[in-house]
Amino acid sequence: MEVKIEDISYQGNGVGRCNGKVVFVPHVDVGEVVDVDVVDNKSSYCTAKVNTILEKSACRQTPPCKYFGLCRGCDFQHLNYEREIQLKKKILCDQFKKVGYKSDIEVVRSEKRFGYRNKIRLTFKKGSLGYNAEGKLVDIDECLLADEKIKAAVRDVRAFLKERRLKNLQSVTFRSGDESVMIAFLFDKTEEVDFSPLYKYKICAAIGDVLESEGTEVWQINRTEVFKTVGDFNLSVGAKSFFQVNDEIAQRLYEFVVNKVRGGTIVNAYSGQGVLTNILAQKCERVIGVECEEESHKLAQKIRLGNVTNLCAKVEDVLEELTTDEKVDAIVLDPAREGCDKKVLDAIKSAKIEKIVYISCNFATLIRDLKLLQEDYAIDDVRAFDMFPNTANIETVAELTYKGEE
Ligand SMILES: C[S@@+](CC[C@H](N)C(=O)[O-])C[C@H]1O[C@@H](n2cnc3c(N)ncnc32)[C@H](O)[C@@H]1O
Repeated sequence: MEVKIEDISYQGNGVGRCNGKVVFVPHVDVGEVVDVDVVDNKSSYCTAKVNTILEKSACRQTPPCKYFGLCRGCDFQHLNYEREIQLKKKILCDQFKKVGYKSDIEVVRSEKRFGYRNKIRLTFKKGSLGYNAEGKLVDIDECLLADEKIKAAVRDVRAFLKERRLKNLQSVTFRSGDESVMIAFLFDKTEEVDFSPLYKYKICAAIGDVLESEGTEVWQINRTEVFKTVGDFNLSVGAKSFFQVNDEIAQRLYEFVVNKVRGGTIVNAYSGQGVLTNILAQKCERVIGVECEEESHKLAQKIRLGNVTNLCAKVEDVLEELTTDEKVDAIVLDPAREGCDKKVLDAIKSAKIEKIVYISCNFATLIRDLKLLQEDYAIDDVRAFDMFPNTANIETVAELTYKGEE
């Protein structure tokens, strides 16, 4: 059937209509007319895939990656970067209208559209190593989003796995530091493996369902961390700790955040391995970092500046007490995709913290949380950072100021 693409969804799919029903089509551009085959027909909408492009966008290009459309990792490789940024801007502006924010939103471009990722995770199943696309494993020999060091490590790990029959391996995580790559092998059950052919890398292993889970213990084969330089700080990043995936954009994001706070006492909530806490501490009198993941907390303690306190706790469990004990001038929030617990937002509102800088990689939960904060806070500025080129994910920062007593 023929569909004209009228809009773009926040998941990066084209949106059209056919017989009164909404049709979602991946890998198209707004304005294109396409002939599609329905893949999934639901009662209120359907998803479809392109058969033929009848009216083609001038922004189309040949996707550089041979797995585009197969591994489901990328959404925009069929368009040039200019157009990708325009579409992301449109998606963001549409989302922010839901909270009454109508100003233009700048999307800061990544210097690298490919080769920017300092971390990838590949699934291992029946001898294949690749990405999971809706339950089907797509074996890949190279991911164009990964940086060069990771690409080389993937080649070596593939060769290593080819020569062995590993029964219980479920995934391999690659993370690059300034000079080296850490490779974390995650198993279902214990297995004897001689990793020595890979000792030019930093190898660690774990047993569990998810590497980052609380119960998953990471044991060292030859190292469990890589070293990275961010601004003035040399930090180590562990197998379980969070680190922004695009180094260049992370730096620019941190600069933007720091410029939004004036000084005084700052809470850096969801603080990870502590780099942003320290960057804030260079400008402010006192910074309190709150992070619940133990490995990240320990790494943050290693690089802690003198005016920093790091708490290993859930933000929702400590923020109310923290803001009762002392005056907090600003809070930086950078939660995981789930957004903030309501207790966190309530504690901020009752403490009447003057400034909130909210960093988010998921604007569905960002918008949800902004709706709750809006009674007491005005949205002053929004900026997006293209942390994840080629994919529909966008890193967004919103600056909010307390409206004061009315
Ligand atoms: C998106 S990362 C942000 C890390 C840091 N701001 C950075 O730029 O590297 C979110 C962090 O929040 C932590 N986290 C998740 N839920 C939490 C909670 N309820 N309380 C405290 N930390 C939490 C995660 O372990 C992770 O390190």
